[in-house]
Formats: sequence, structure tokens, C-alpha cells
Amino acid sequence: MSQKKLEKILQEGLQSIQKASNEVDLMMVEVRLLGRKSELSALLKGLKDLSPEEKRTLGPAMNAAKQQLTQSLAEKREQLQEADHDWEAERIDVTLPSSIGLNRKKRISGVGHQHPLTTITREIEDIFTSMGFEIADGPEVETEFYNFDALNMPADHPARDMQDTFWLQMKKESEDRFLLRTHTSPVQIRYMQTHTPPLRIIVPGRVFRNEATDTTHEHTFYQFECLMVSDDISVANFKAVGEMFFSRFFGQETTIRLRPSFFPFVEPGFEFDIACTLCHGVGCSACKQVGWIEIGGAGMVHQKVLVAAGYERDRYQGFAWGFGTPRLAMMKYHIPDGRLFQSGDLRFINQF
Ligand code: FA5
Repeated sequence: MSQKKLEKILQEGLQSIQKASNEVDLMMVEVRLLGRKSELSALLKGLKDLSPEEKRTLGPAMNAAKQQLTQSLAEKREQLQEADHDWEAERIDVTLPSSIGLNRKKRISGVGHQHPLTTITREIEDIFTSMGFEIADGPEVETEFYNFDALNMPADHPARDMQDTFWLQMKKESEDRFLLRTHTSPVQIRYMQTHTPPLRIIVPGRVFRNEATDTTHEHTFYQFECLMVSDDISVANFKAVGEMFFSRFFGQETTIRLRPSFFPFVEPGFEFDIACTLCHGVGCSACKQVGWIEIGGAGMVHQKVLVAAGYERDRYQGFAWGFGTPRLAMMKYHIPDGRLFQSGDLRFINQF
């Protein structure tokens, strides 16, 4: 085996790489030049049988030839890919109206529309703003303090178990523990820290719970919080605002039921149910055969919460509630399974 033969393999190899007219041809050339059965591989395998002198000169030359062929193959492949690319097909005309799509070849027909949960949220916002409420907002990634401690749920409080929590692992050591907020109630504290009563707000937002799903439960869903604080707010205000909201939201008189309940951040606390609008109280899969559907929790704001927000104890009173938006949507649109709203199924969404 001589240097001459190696040179011949290299030159012929470089020529056939240049001649390849497409990626498939190039792959065949690559197999022929560098594959297990190629001349070059045979030479490399036979290296061990050569004299030390030949090894010293031919070894580096063989490796250099292999490297040169590999690099030439890579360059040629890039060239072919570039040439094969159908740039025209990917051309985007940013001046086209979005409703017919960005890609000239695949025009999307029809105009999109609001998601039913967005429509419901806008309606809720309109009703409350017309009653003088402001719309407030807060972070979805929340601290343990705002989601639990400030709401009178210290670390060992059993009520924390009522809301299965997605805790976040932090890369760095941090004094606060972070989580995906389990309810919109933390925004009560955030808002009160920066505002002085009288105040009235609603907080529409997305919340997260680590729980199994069924017709009325999702791991990611929407709530809207309502908070009214002043010198002399009573349960009567709560009832009046609730009645006004429901009659406007459903456009008809709605049967409401308050059950005594416990939430550490209110005293007294209630569970808020409405008569199932699908079966009118008879029982169906949406209301799990009980005739009522639980819409939310509510109550008079606990003095410990007002203190945690920075107010003087017993100076103010307020009421708060947290309602599940998808459940209101289920009742308004007569949908038996709340999971459909976030299923991404256009056959469902396009009905709205
Ligand atoms: C709370 O989240 C309290 N923050 C509500 C509250 C606010 C009470 C202010 C007192 C004062 P609860 O966990 O019950 O409470 O949830 C409130 C409502 O959210 C439920 O009634 C229900 O309508 C809805 N909800 C709860 N869990 C889910 C879920 N997994 N999927 C869909 N909706 C849910």
C-alpha cells in the first residue's frame, strides 16, 4: 500500500462528492467512501500489519484523508439542503389579514372568536364594574405567605389539605416557598396592602390544584374573587351584591342556597350553591344527582386577614367570595361536563 494509492482514493472520493446531485446520491457516496466495506476502512484496518516505519507515515495520512472526505461530505450536504429548500412555500406575507392565515398556500378560512370562558369573564367584569367594582390582578406563581399564611392558614393548618398544591422547586435557596396559586384569594391581601378602605374589587384569574378531574373538577381552572371592605359592611351587603350579580348574569331569578362552611380566612363562612339549571333540581350528571351545584365559598373577612394586610384590628369589616368561573359557564350554557371548556375540541368551542 502506498501513499499514491491513498491519494487516488482521496481525489476520486472528493470528485464523486462534488458530482452528487441530491442528498440520496450523497448518502450512497458516503457509504462507498467511509462505510465499513470501503477501501479506506480496509486500509485503516490493515494498518496494524504494516511496519513501524510505514505506520508512522501512512497512519496520519490516512486519518487526514478521512477527515478531508468527512468535511467535504458535510459541506456538500449543506449545499444540497440549501438548494432543495422550498423557500417560496415558507414565504410569509405579513401584510395579509390574520383571518386568512399567514401561509399563502394554506389559507385558513373563517374568523376566530372569543373562548366561552373569556366571554363569561368579560360579562362578569361588566356587571361588577357597573356596580362600582374595580378589577384587580395578581401573580399565578405565588408565595406560601400570600396563598396560605396571610389567609390565616399557617403551615400546620389542616385546611391547607383542602387545596392540593403544586409546589415549585426553586434552584436557589430562598426564604419564601413558591407554588402555583390554588385560589384567587391571595390577591385580597396584595390589594389591601396597597389600598385603604372603602374598597370593592373582583379578581378574575387562573388557579391550579393537584387533583383528579371529573365533570366539575379540573387541575387548572378559573375563579373570580370578590372583595368589599369598608367601616360597616355586613352579610346584608353580601346578599344584595350576590343577588344582583346572579339575576343579571343569568337574566332571570336564580335560586341560591347558602350553607354554613369553614374557610380559615372568613368568619362566618358559607358555601354558595345554585339550583342546577340543567335539571332544575331533579338531579343529573352535571350536579352529581343532587340538584344543586356548588359555585363558590364566601364569608365575612376574618379580622386576622385584615391585620395581615396591614389594617388595624376591628377597624374595618368586609365580605369576600371565590367562585368557580367554569361552573357558572356550565350553568349558563347548560353544559354537563366542565372539562369540555378546556378540551381544545373545536367541535365544542365553535358552538359558541
Ligand atoms: C376557595 O377557593 C376559596 N378561596 C373561596 C373563598 C373566597 C371562600 C373568599 C371564602 C372567601 P373552594 O376551594 O371551595 O374555595 O373553591 C371555590 C370554588 O372554586 C368551588 O366552589 C368551585 O366552584 C370552584 N372549584 C374548586 N375546585 C375546583 C376544581 N378543581 N375545578 C373546577 N372548579 C373548582
